[in-house]
Amino acid sequence: MKIAVFGCGYVGLATAVGLAEMGNEVIGVDIDEKKLGMLSSGQVPFFEPGIQEMLKHNLAEGRLSFSSDIHSAIQFGELIFSAVGTPPKKNHEADLSAVLNVAESFGRYGSNGKIFVNKSTVPVGTSEKIRETIELFAYQPFDYCVLSNPEFLREGTAMQDFFHPDRIVIGIEPKDLDAKKMMDTLYRPMIEQGVPVQYTDIRSAEVIKYASNSFLATRISFMNELAEFCELAGADIKTVAKGMGLDKRIGTTFLDAGLGFGGSCLPKDLAALIEKGEALGFDFELLKQVQKINQKLPERMINKLKKYVPNLQDATIALWGLSFKPKTDDLREAPSLKLMKRLLKAKARLQVFDPVSMHHAENIFLERPEFFSKITFAGSAHQALQNADALLIVTEWDEFRNPDYAKIKSLMKQPIIIDGRNLLVPKEALESGFIYESFGRNLPGLQSQTQKKRSLKSKQRVTYRSNVKKSQVVLE
Ligand code: UDX
Repeated sequence: MKIAVFGCGYVGLATAVGLAEMGNEVIGVDIDEKKLGMLSSGQVPFFEPGIQEMLKHNLAEGRLSFSSDIHSAIQFGELIFSAVGTPPKKNHEADLSAVLNVAESFGRYGSNGKIFVNKSTVPVGTSEKIRETIELFAYQPFDYCVLSNPEFLREGTAMQDFFHPDRIVIGIEPKDLDAKKMMDTLYRPMIEQGVPVQYTDIRSAEVIKYASNSFLATRISFMNELAEFCELAGADIKTVAKGMGLDKRIGTTFLDAGLGFGGSCLPKDLAALIEKGEALGFDFELLKQVQKINQKLPERMINKLKKYVPNLQDATIALWGLSFKPKTDDLREAPSLKLMKRLLKAKARLQVFDPVSMHHAENIFLERPEFFSKITFAGSAHQALQNADALLIVTEWDEFRNPDYAKIKSLMKQPIIIDGRNLLVPKEALESGFIYESFGRNLPGLQSQTQKKRSLKSKQRVTYRSNVKKSQVVLE
């Protein structure tokens, strides 16, 4: 099949590369000439496991190319995928201008039989707007159809998700039988593997995307509330999550408590669904709470830190992990940035390390010289610990999972770990002489052991107690 994919960002590139790998002829279209140059020479501008190899392979096979020539791309494609961004506006509403630009081009240069497949995450009702735009710019009426085919790719496992999705959702008008046949042919390799395809009306397909991400966000916020409760109740959130997950109706994934959700999708889609509800006169009370719970998590971590390092001014705080989750260099809505800003406002010095996203963090903080001068971008996880008053674990990269406790204790000024991803085994950290705090974990016997093994003097503990109340202060 001949396909043009508009937008060579994260979703567009994964889609273009995946479709080419399936044997289709694909043109990736973008307005960013620099990006197109990189992609044409086999370079991927972001970190995503597996995508670069597949990009090079399909370029070499001649199935994949990149271009900024919109007219030729639309003439070439039987299917025109829109995978351009829909960033949030100030009021959280999705900005549809890039999608509607693709629709305008489709209207101008489209011809009979072409199919507009929308992969961009758009609010319910956007397909009608796409159609209106196409009609507005078409020089003469032609036969086309608009489909909604939302993406569910996770960063870090995008190619795996592309080839082995849990489901394929296609919103389509009942009359568009030829388009349905085309989509069945396109996705045949997945269908033959047993992947379910759900054909729906277009509006429902649009809602499925937002609803799925908002539900995932809801699970995470629920677990984070429960973690706080477990701390008070003396229960252990990981044990509770395991017991809950064994119920097939609940399932085992998306039950990890900690610093909460970030990234380019969950926070944005949640906010956009709430906003769309408001526009329709509906108050998504539950989702507003989900958002609030997530937003307060970096502050929870700082409050935990301040129990042991009450005065952050000139304290040296190490951060392990910056990206919003492992296997990506993406810092969008990453809790690390909120934490760093709060710590820097409290005049702490930071020593940070992340396996892949350091350059992005440097670029972000370069714009704030007063902050930049207080941050050391370390060359390794160990280097970040030199003389540190405490270590904050922010992203659950595998390489942080089994630390050499003796080594890290020798590097740090004080053996204090606040684990924002419940990554370490508490018993091991405590038995290695660390003060160890995580989110909602409470194993019988460990607290008393901790008390015995704490290397901080009792005087410091008194300071800590007297500061617990003050630590509710929000730094922003
Ligand atoms: C998400 C959706 O999963 C994907 O289907 C959609 O198309 C795009 O958005 P992604 O943004 O890559 O994918 O991240 P995801 O793996 O879903 O994780 C989202 C956030 O939730 C991360 O910040 C992660 O750290 C956090 N998370 C995840 C938790 O805090 N706890 C969990 O149990 C799981």
